[in-house]
Amino acid sequence: MPIYFDAEKQTFRLDAGTSSYVMRVGPHGYLLHLYYGAHTSDLDLSYMEPSLPRASFCPRPHGDPETFFSLDYYPMEYPAYGAGDFRTAAVSILGANGCASTDLRYRSHEIRSGKYALKGLPSVYANETDAVDTLDITLSDELTGAEVHLLYGVFADRNVITRATVVKNAGTAPLTILKAASAAMDFPTMDYDLIHLYGMWAQERWISREPLTHDTRTVGSLRGSSSHNHNPFAALVSKTADEDHGEAYGYSLVYSGNFAIEAECDSFHSARILMGIHPTDFRWHLEPGESFTTPEAVLVYSNEGIGEMSRTYHKLYRYNLCRGEWKEKKRPILVNNWEATYFGFDDEKLLDIAKDAADLGIEMLVMDDGWFGKRNNDHCSLGDWFVNEEKLKGGLKPLVDRVNALGLKFGIWFEPEMISPDSELYRKHPDWCLCAPGRKPSIARFQYVLDMTREDVRDYLFTVISGVLSSANIVYLKWDFNRNLSEAGSALLPPERQQEFFHRYVLGLYDLLERLTSAFPHILFEGCSGGGGRFDPAMLYYSPQIWTSDDTDAIERCRIQYGTSMVYPASSISAHVSASPNHQTGRLTPFETRGNVAMAGAFGYELDLTKLTDEERALVRKQVAQYHAYYDIIQNGDLYRLVSPFENDVCCAWEYVSADRSEALLTFVVTKCRVGFTTFIRLRGLDPEKRYQDVETGRIYSGDTLMNVGVNLSRYWKDSESLICHFREVTE
Ligand code: DGJ
Repeated sequence: MPIYFDAEKQTFRLDAGTSSYVMRVGPHGYLLHLYYGAHTSDLDLSYMEPSLPRASFCPRPHGDPETFFSLDYYPMEYPAYGAGDFRTAAVSILGANGCASTDLRYRSHEIRSGKYALKGLPSVYANETDAVDTLDITLSDELTGAEVHLLYGVFADRNVITRATVVKNAGTAPLTILKAASAAMDFPTMDYDLIHLYGMWAQERWISREPLTHDTRTVGSLRGSSSHNHNPFAALVSKTADEDHGEAYGYSLVYSGNFAIEAECDSFHSARILMGIHPTDFRWHLEPGESFTTPEAVLVYSNEGIGEMSRTYHKLYRYNLCRGEWKEKKRPILVNNWEATYFGFDDEKLLDIAKDAADLGIEMLVMDDGWFGKRNNDHCSLGDWFVNEEKLKGGLKPLVDRVNALGLKFGIWFEPEMISPDSELYRKHPDWCLCAPGRKPSIARFQYVLDMTREDVRDYLFTVISGVLSSANIVYLKWDFNRNLSEAGSALLPPERQQEFFHRYVLGLYDLLERLTSAFPHILFEGCSGGGGRFDPAMLYYSPQIWTSDDTDAIERCRIQYGTSMVYPASSISAHVSASPNHQTGRLTPFETRGNVAMAGAFGYELDLTKLTDEERALVRKQVAQYHAYYDIIQNGDLYRLVSPFENDVCCAWEYVSADRSEALLTFVVTKCRVGFTTFIRLRGLDPEKRYQDVETGRIYSGDTLMNVGVNLSRYWKDSESLICHFREVTE
């Protein structure tokens, strides 16, 4: 068991891979956090606790003999609001007395084999070969009857600890949760940099790295979704940490709604980090006997740099979070008609694209927005999920059959959570759109949002989507979501529960996704939100790939995909070759470069194949062949980020190494045209003892030469702005 409890010292130690996590039941029964980091063999780390009184202003708990114990500066495992700890709290619960003061003390614990699951919420799971155990610590507040279960999932062989919290009303009067974080952690020092991923539409998940300072910083979303603007991820890394060295603590939240990651440094130079549902506009009412479960936080520790933290997340999310038939199945190369036609298509146009696709080795046609209702632009018809037979003569089946007859699979686009005011659905059910009762809803992209907290809405969506999916041989569904939630409220919730809306919305979304993915297990779901506005671990639980960004410019994608790779595996990063000049930026980029960058994800095309020149058609065939040849290395290999587009303004580079270290792929992209740029690149992750051959040039290098001396790319340079070098082990 990777979970130890020393009854005499009242200490817990969780050993996850090469990391340890230590807590102790301290004075007055408060649960203290003592350590998280590289492995420690000792259980007694109480010497790490403060040993001097710090200030007379720091309160001591009631009845404390004259000790120096104060919640104001002791490192807490799950800090509560209002009982002497003035730092950012993890939990705050209103009792029957109307006060938010919350006082949680250790009551008991249980160690169970296997990984806990969360009711109604996605979470990481253990496969048969994984050794994972659960620690369930119960804290309780005697006055209010609030019972808090801290859940820990400890992976014995990986540096992964998952956390979640269940708040139960074990008392006799109703309680109101004002805040319940998924996880919190105190550090004795603030000597860390905070890394997080920020952005906007068409510019998602850029990397920010800043030192912690004496303040409280929040990375979060109040948009009703995880958002383009911030990702539910942050890392604390040692000041000198880089891709290959130093400590990195990753915090990733398995959640798609409003979230907050808060980092605070106090006057004693210690740091606290917390993550969970955003406390703004959140309240949860608990009747006696009821429970509330937080989303899961996934903690990863690395003392081999930021790169190793990312690789741990990649494997975990690919194999222990994504589910279903498509989890490990090779994804078909698709062509999506959005940038090829936008709304201006009919069955014949789609078939023309499909014919070229089949000829070029592309494996699936995805019909995007515009196939339903009267949808010839984005002003109408969301919610009317019946086929527009003016565009698709005879309905969906004849088109899908003809596409299938060409040897191609067929995929379809939906935006289930939305409703256009100009739609039959809205005319019939105006009360189905979400709205704070009494207010007029704001409009965005000419659409409102359906109230996913309502069972009747979800039932309607399940029925209508199931009908479409069953009407033809459809094997892929792109699930889009193109606006943020405002005036959040539901016609069905009583006033005292309206602040539960945001979380209930997310639970409703997960419920519908669970029903549909279970009913259609053969369908590959692809998440999307105006590009990557809901690219989060929870959506990966339902859709193993997500449209990364509406910005399909290959040079812009370098930053977007590089940032996304901080947490998410290549198999989840949907990436397409699009037209040049690019539709979002107007930039001209060589076809090879567009392919080389898209190759770093779930690969496809997003342009009018019927308009390609012969030369471009030859390049598509080459890229299709490369996709198949490189598939295993990219999708199942290890990623090494070599040159960051956030630090180098002229080029970037990354590398995949196959699981057995027999092959490597180096991708190098010039991001800004200049006469001079870096051409020496050192590889990573190879076996120094092995010999590797450059497949294209035939030149042989030893692994240590490739890693210590590097390759000189100017020798390989032709006239493109990027290249992929493939190295393969030489065994004779
Ligand atoms: C936003 C998506 O990101 C695009 O790929 C496309 O599907 C459009 N929506 C369609 O409206």
